[in-house]
Amino acid sequence: MTDETSWSGDVDWDELRAAATEAMRHAYAPYSRYRVGAAALVSDGRIVSGCNVENAAYGVTLCAECGLVSELHRSGGGRLVAFVCVDGQGATIMPCGRCRQLLFEHAVPGMLLETVSGIRTMDEVLPDAFGPRDLEEAGR
Ligand code: THU
Repeated sequence: MTDETSWSGDVDWDELRAAATEAMRHAYAPYSRYRVGAAALVSDGRIVSGCNVENAAYGVTLCAECGLVSELHRSGGGRLVAFVCVDGQGATIMPCGRCRQLLFEHAVPGMLLETVSGIRTMDEVLPDAFGPRDLEEAGR
């Protein structure tokens, strides 16, 4: 059962990791040669994914999570309920700090992540996150 703010189903982590690994194979990483794939389960049950896309102007590089969030919206919206990202060997890695913030904005409360130290919640990997609510409370 799902809606926009919760998820009460099971998470098939093997399926998610496989989707992330498949996405990683499309990475454009000629500069770092560090390929990343990310995949997430969405609140309606679909899976979205993304890969990193680097740029000759290094700072313009898009992390795999950027592609994933773009895919989330392009394919119908909803919220992320479970997330994993992998390196070029298909091993689970941590999302970078910037991408934790990016994911937080589009996650259900309590979104799960497969991390290098096991399954964690969004709040564990980005405690006391700044988010949309802070702007609302400030009347913006
Ligand atoms: N990278 C990601 O795609 N996601 C992360 O969360 C960590 C870093 C990419 C960016 C860059 O193309 C490469 O990994 C090396 O930093």
